[in-house]
Amino acid sequence: MFVSQRGLELTSVQWLLDHHKAKEKERRQMVADFGVKRGDIVLDLACGPGLWSSLLAEKVAPSGLVIGTDFSPDLVRYAKENLEKEPHKDIIEFMEGDLYLIPFRDDTFDAVFFGNTLSYVEDVQKALQEQKRVLKKGGRLVVKDFDGAIIIFHPIDVYLQLEVLTAAANGLERNPPQPHFDNFVGRKMHGLLLKEGFKDVSTTTYAISKTAPLSPETKRYITGNAEFYLKNAAPYLSKEQVWQWRAHFDPTSDQYILDLDEFYFCMVEMVTTARAQ
Ligand SMILES: C[S@@+](CC[C@H](N)C(=O)[O-])C[C@H]1O[C@@H](n2cnc3c(N)ncnc32)[C@H](O)[C@@H]1O
Repeated sequence: MFVSQRGLELTSVQWLLDHHKAKEKERRQMVADFGVKRGDIVLDLACGPGLWSSLLAEKVAPSGLVIGTDFSPDLVRYAKENLEKEPHKDIIEFMEGDLYLIPFRDDTFDAVFFGNTLSYVEDVQKALQEQKRVLKKGGRLVVKDFDGAIIIFHPIDVYLQLEVLTAAANGLERNPPQPHFDNFVGRKMHGLLLKEGFKDVSTTTYAISKTAPLSPETKRYITGNAEFYLKNAAPYLSKEQVWQWRAHFDPTSDQYILDLDEFYFCMVEMVTTARAQ
């Protein structure tokens, strides 16, 4: 489902572009809150198609530098091919690289941004220690992710929704995705950074809500979320529940909710910042 060349779910270019467009306003606010400043040298680690790199470049311009790395060749190719359109293209670079073996020397970056990727990380300790290694002393780590337990699709019957979320949690626990995926990483980030010895750990939680009229990208993003939950939940639901859930996201059904005036979607995202010492 929405996979890139590396076979990870929810990492295709189309999915990441829709996700970005759906939340661009909120992402700009987050980046403004990161504390990244003019002149900083920033690593956008696991950058995907490089969408956050552009927002980061606005903050560090004109004298800073943003380097995006990702292990997925198709995503890095997309990022490079689209760099020409970027207003700050002269201070952005993309290259392939694994997050467990970041291709830079110790003490290189003023800031490392790690967006929407911690959920794919099986060895969190190794990944965070590697991020610490490439940060300058006092450099800033910014980890941004979400927590999949806190999500609202209104006006779906609240009990159906809770059953789908519970069944999805069950599915993810009993049939863990291969490769690894932690749908509930957002709540753990603060503690994980403390555990790895980062200083000045601070977490901000953002509630992101969407109401009608929705852009096509936002509709695809919300529908993709609904499909992701259903895929993991389906083995633990009745046929009737599966049918009902699908109908709410099927534009040809009279149960379709995304065009309703009362439609309300909400999820929470967390940004944890800390200093390397
Ligand atoms: C959900 S995407 C997020 C991409 C981007 N940060 C964003 O928010 O648009 C997760 C990214 O992590 C990358 N990734 C996962 N494991 C990785 C690894 N071991 N090394 C480098 N990149 C990795 C994937 O290729 C993908 O681009």
